Amino acid sequence: MAVFSLIFGCACHALWYLFFIVLVAFLGYSLYIKHIHMKYDHIPGPPRNSFFFGHTPTFLREMKAERVVHEKLLEWAQTYGPVYRLNGLHHAMIVVSCPEATKEILMSPKYPKDKFAYKRLFHLFGQRFLGNGMVTAVNHEQWYKQRRIMDPAFSSLYLRGLMSTFNERAERLMDKLADFADCKKETCMLHLVNCVTLDVIAKVAFGVDLDLLKHTDSPFPKAIEVCLEGMMYHVRDAFFQLIPKNWPFVNEVRQACKLLRDTGYRWIQARKTAIQHGEEVPKDILTQIIKSADKEESMGKDDEEFMLDNFVTFFIAGQETTANQLAFCIMELGRHPDILEKARKEVDDVIGMKQEISYDDLGKLVYLSQVLKETLRLYPTAPGTSREVHEDMVINGIHIPGGVTCAFSSYVTSRMDKFFKDPLTFDPDRFHPDAPKPYYCYYPFSLGPRSCLGQNFAQMEAKVVMAKLLQRFEFNLVPGQSFDIRDVGTLRPKDGVMSHIKHRNHSKVNE
Ligand code: HEM
Repeated sequence: MAVFSLIFGCACHALWYLFFIVLVAFLGYSLYIKHIHMKYDHIPGPPRNSFFFGHTPTFLREMKAERVVHEKLLEWAQTYGPVYRLNGLHHAMIVVSCPEATKEILMSPKYPKDKFAYKRLFHLFGQRFLGNGMVTAVNHEQWYKQRRIMDPAFSSLYLRGLMSTFNERAERLMDKLADFADCKKETCMLHLVNCVTLDVIAKVAFGVDLDLLKHTDSPFPKAIEVCLEGMMYHVRDAFFQLIPKNWPFVNEVRQACKLLRDTGYRWIQARKTAIQHGEEVPKDILTQIIKSADKEESMGKDDEEFMLDNFVTFFIAGQETTANQLAFCIMELGRHPDILEKARKEVDDVIGMKQEISYDDLGKLVYLSQVLKETLRLYPTAPGTSREVHEDMVINGIHIPGGVTCAFSSYVTSRMDKFFKDPLTFDPDRFHPDAPKPYYCYYPFSLGPRSCLGQNFAQMEAKVVMAKLLQRFEFNLVPGQSFDIRDVGTLRPKDGVMSHIKHRNHSKVNE
């Protein structure tokens, strides 16, 4: 009995101490949050939803209602000005739409990518995902080595050599569209262009022929979609995986990440074996990925994982954004017959009945380029980026103490009437070669050293697909569908751009 009461007494004391420690930690943390609030509260911003969670509840509400989070950022930019503050726990973030500050911060290597957001993509719910790959590497040295090694696979000389693959994969889409036109069935354009861009990246980056328009049971499109959705919850909702009803989805995300990484492992091993056997291998992205790990001295045993980080990075970055751009472009052309006709006339003048589009043809499709640029103005498919600002600075006359995250959204600036007149009107003439260039308010590929490595690749691919589509087919959007945007971190058309396809009224293209 005495032993029992001794143990009971000790347990009570231990609990009291524990309670006391938790209380002190809680008070300390609360004071720290208060300190952060006091440090940044002179910067204008919307009222916080709560002391602890700051503005996070508003973001969660927007996400649950399936609204575009950047629309809220735009509304706040219009109310609170070119630099405003947001909070979440002990973090402070400023959202900047001022062109001068955008130029200063994004163009300089001095401001690293923000650890809080990008390191969250290292793993997805405990499964390694983008790791230290090119998009998520925050350490400048580590990123710079990778970029230097990858650059040759994106040089204009190398890209010219990809024209035949772009043509060949786009032809497969044309065959599929011809089937839809023959059977007069409506088709989801987003799904089809997704298959093409995935086919292209698998072929040109990794030398693998997926042929997704034929092999419709491939698990990759679904795996990428699940990973992207998982990314959104993982970054925007810190408590998502703690809620039991989300566990089946969390598990699905882990499986999808694993599928991509396991696939990467097999493809990398096959390429390494080919190299060891002295076979001639293309100087494609996969070869560069293998090189980048070999040269990464400090990586040691992690080499394998590091290669897989970049495999997944290119598999995802190189595909979804371009597919979404194509789908939005088709959607806007379907809604603007005059613009569609002008683009079609240019395609007829430049490529006529030719089947194989050349690199030089692409340079002549000036209006089509404008259409694609205007598409990314209204629908920047990868809309945001963020940087860490460690030193004090002044933005738009407001003192910004160092230690803050600085967020940028091309969606926000592209939809502000102070930068673009009638911003919601789809007007490719904004990008006419003689029109003034937008000044640091349009950056769908981001800006500066961390801008998109695949920009030219993506726009060549998009032009080839669009030019062939305009050359061969009429398309009418199925009435009654929504033209809303679905925000899963990247932006895509909510209803998938359902269309009726018809053959154009002219004889067959020359083979
Ligand atoms: C319309 C298509 C595309 C859009 C709108 C787009 C947009 C972007 C944006 C906004 C970033 C910066 C991301 C950030 O700051 O977190 C980025 C980075 C990147 N993109 Fe793209 N992208 C597209 C296509 C591609 C393609 C086709 C590839 C590869 C084949 C690619 C590879 C990359 C890479 C490797 C980075 C990281 C660059 C670095 O940090 O050095 N992207 N992209």
